[in-house]
Amino acid sequence: MTLALGVLASGRGSNLQAILDACARPGFPARVAVVISDRERAAALDRARAAGVEALWVDPKDFADREAFDLALVRELESRGVGLVCHAGFMRILSPAYVRAFAGRALNIHPSLLPAFPGLHAQRQALDHGAKVAGATVHFLDESVDTGPIVAQAAVPVEPGDTEETLAARILVQEHRLYPEAIRLFAEGRLRIQGRRVIVVPEGPR
Ligand code: GRF
Repeated sequence: MTLALGVLASGRGSNLQAILDACARPGFPARVAVVISDRERAAALDRARAAGVEALWVDPKDFADREAFDLALVRELESRGVGLVCHAGFMRILSPAYVRAFAGRALNIHPSLLPAFPGLHAQRQALDHGAKVAGATVHFLDESVDTGPIVAQAAVPVEPGDTEETLAARILVQEHRLYPEAIRLFAEGRLRIQGRRVIVVPEGPR
């Protein structure tokens, strides 16, 4: 049985695409069961449809408050047997009830070497700060923004003359490699959360 993934995305969906492509490779231990967006026209939904994956728009305006919307997400994900939720450019802060429902079963990707530069415009923050090294982080979701236990990171150099766009593009190459790798480790049961640390258990004999 492969692990059922739910991917949450608000926009372009290039990380979703990397996940879909990884899942299409023989032997990859996960498959995307549903892609959910809060935005009707998110390109991520088109990418899901093109891959033959269910694409679901959940409109925040249909719900009285944030928690009601988040609980609807939980219902949609649970009803599809999702074992791991992958946040991939999902531009909403999730309420504690959502985080509890998926404790230890939800990942996020962020375009910085956390804990540096959390929140919006991480690449611009890195440039403005004069950082020489930037990168990407996959981490478990917790109740704050971009603070959960770190699963995997990759560094890239900041080059002289970089703009937000050139740096973002360099980081994105690493994001697309890192996210499927983190999903694979989770699906193989090789991630253990110990406090702030995520231990990667070595591959066992097959
Ligand atoms: C990525 O840079 C990701 O790290 C951040 O939002 C961006 C989403 O890009 N959380 P995409 O929609 O996956 O192309």
